[in-house]
Amino acid sequence: MDKTLGAYDIADLRELARRRLPRGVFEFFDRGNGDEVAVVENRVAFERIKLAPHALVDTSRRSQEITLFGERHRIPVAIAPTGSAGLAWHEGEVALAKAAREAGIPFTLATGSMTSLERVAAEAGGTLWFQVYMWPDRSLSHQLVERAKAAGYKALVITVDTPVPPGREYNMRNGMTVPFSFTRRNVTDVLMHPRWLAGVLMRYLLTTGMPRYENYPAGMQSRITALPMGRSMAVTDSLTWDDLRALRKLWPHALLVKGILRTQDAVMAAECGADGVIVSNHGGRAVDSTRAPIEVLPEVVEAAGKRLEVLVDSGFRRGADVAKALALGARAVLIGRATLYGVAVAGQAGAARAIEIYRDELDRLLALIGCPGVASLNRDYLALSE
Ligand SMILES: Cc1cc2nc3c(=O)[nH]c(=O)nc-3n(C[C@H](O)[C@H](O)[C@H](O)COP(=O)(O)O)c2cc1C
Repeated sequence: MDKTLGAYDIADLRELARRRLPRGVFEFFDRGNGDEVAVVENRVAFERIKLAPHALVDTSRRSQEITLFGERHRIPVAIAPTGSAGLAWHEGEVALAKAAREAGIPFTLATGSMTSLERVAAEAGGTLWFQVYMWPDRSLSHQLVERAKAAGYKALVITVDTPVPPGREYNMRNGMTVPFSFTRRNVTDVLMHPRWLAGVLMRYLLTTGMPRYENYPAGMQSRITALPMGRSMAVTDSLTWDDLRALRKLWPHALLVKGILRTQDAVMAAECGADGVIVSNHGGRAVDSTRAPIEVLPEVVEAAGKRLEVLVDSGFRRGADVAKALALGARAVLIGRATLYGVAVAGQAGAARAIEIYRDELDRLLALIGCPGVASLNRDYLALSE
């Protein structure tokens, strides 16, 4: 198979992933929450933003390099945390992290990963960020954060938009659970996808056992019974700004708050000592009726951009989407589903292909709009109505 994997854009990778994965796993990766209004809006919002190309600019030495929290990255993209990525590929988190390292971008490991944070660090290296979902027992979460620190993670991302597991009814209908278990509802689905059964599930069964949340301490691990995907993750609905302040005391490196959709919250995050925020609606997987993060972004940049690095995610599928976010003041963009589709198709090579698609598209776009490099992107490249 050639390096393109037969995928020329992210939509192609999505289609290849759809064929390869059991329907229950694909829908868990691909879908949103509720009526999926936010998933659609996240995309439509990009269509409303128009570019205004500059003519006759020398772009022959265009660059996509950025510096973020003191480190240089080759393109202005980072891999977002996606729990259960290990169901896309055997030890999918390691494959994703290796692809990120090779591409010179950060990889964010989710609390709900199926490979332990220590193994990902030992096997992949590169710039690793760790995403934390605070558990009801804060002392256990703090121990987890200490583990991430000891393993060399460079940034901590605390996700604040999921105080309870969102509904996502399709996970119930599909009968997919974590830890993985065979159910009446999923057995036919799994058997109809032999490549996944042999290449992913069987490899776990022959080594570490049914895929589960490997970062959970043993005590928590044994209490988890198989529940529909997303429902077995431990989260807490009592999180407050005090929790952020406590993390600030604990964590010496970059601290980011993920899931910000209001300017006041970005300002509060800065007050509590955060270094960055990620404007995000969780890819439309949490509240099903919010403004698209790309639309909220300029307000957050305006309110807190001098005090914080403002990052953004949700719905980025094209290099042009990344350019629009940077032009509106984002420092970098996170991608969630795109690299998951890639890793489901071909492991590390598939994730690498997803990253390459963004890089190539952004490279072409910079030339097409007469922009010598991402550092020069600003509102002057957008046709804004105000
Ligand atoms: C399958 C899946 C699992 C996710 N798990 C997490 C998670 O554990 N923690 C988190 O902060 N965000 C999680 N997210 C949200 C992503 O970090 C990110 O915000 C979102 O995917 C961005 O939108 P995009 O998929 O359109 O790029 C998940 C997203 C997906 C698709």
